[in-house]
Amino acid sequence: MAEAAYLEEEFPAAVGETNRLPGERSVSMNIIELDKISKSYTRGKEQLQILKEITLHIAEGDFVAIIGPSGSGKSTLMNTIGLLDSPTSGTYKLDGVSTENMSDNGLAELRNRKIGFIFQQFNLLPRLTALENVELPMIYAGIGAKARKERAQMMLEALGMGQRGHHKPSELSGGQQQRVAIARALAISPSLILADEPTGALDSKTGIEVLELITKLNEEGNTIVLITHDSHIADNAKRVVTLRDGEIIKDVRNAPIPLQVQEAVV
Ligand SMILES: Nc1ncnc2c1ncn2[C@@H]1O[C@H](COP(=O)(O)OP(=O)(O)OP(=O)(O)O)[C@@H](O)[C@H]1O
Ligand SMILES: [Mg+2]
Repeated sequence: MAEAAYLEEEFPAAVGETNRLPGERSVSMNIIELDKISKSYTRGKEQLQILKEITLHIAEGDFVAIIGPSGSGKSTLMNTIGLLDSPTSGTYKLDGVSTENMSDNGLAELRNRKIGFIFQQFNLLPRLTALENVELPMIYAGIGAKARKERAQMMLEALGMGQRGHHKPSELSGGQQQRVAIARALAISPSLILADEPTGALDSKTGIEVLELITKLNEEGNTIVLITHDSHIADNAKRVVTLRDGEIIKDVRNAPIPLQVQEAVV
């Protein structure tokens, strides 16, 4: 609390509202609108407040890093944004759609259509080949077998993995597995890509390559929200939001959101 007050003093525009740079568009479409989102768990008689009235709006085409120490609520926030977990209170609009009163099926449908996930541990299914893993979200999306095989192959090729489609995850290096996971995330042309510590399980060289890939996806028009506890990784983002104890204590813009969000290449 004292820390937040201190930061507010030092960065007057940094808490709450997003900073805008000169020349940046003043009207932008927000893909994410979280308003006063709280999340709590009860443990025995105790009430654990994990997220405390978080208000966070993220514009289409932006690249936002969410940083903060372990246990500050980053993954909880990502799970909320990713519709994997619902908040205790507050409102959340994803791409203009209010999510509060949706059924679990409705939320799953929205999630499958709009969000591509990239996780630290890749989360590929071990028994499926790389190609089949990339196909998976397209099966959920109801895309026919021929079209989805073609698209899965195309996505793997775009990520330099075209020759590896028949390999199982265990036959691939960490960096290759993460490329497959990124191909899978992109397969449904999501409105939003959520990455939780995507380089956390990779050696530093491979981590840099994956980060460059994510930066390129943003340049191609994809909106990225990247969770990390590493401020060097966050330096690649256009906006850096810092969480501590379930609150946003700092919100800094490093680069403008592109004026014209281009169509994603892939
Ligand atoms: N299901 C749950 N029940 C009770 N407490 C939980 C639950 N899930 C998370 N928490 C608690 O919420 C807090 C925030 O967890 P979260 O995983 O969001 O942190 P994080 O910032 O992602 O940390 P890390 O950098 O270690 O991944 C932690 O104290 C954690 O113990
Ligand atoms: Mg986490």
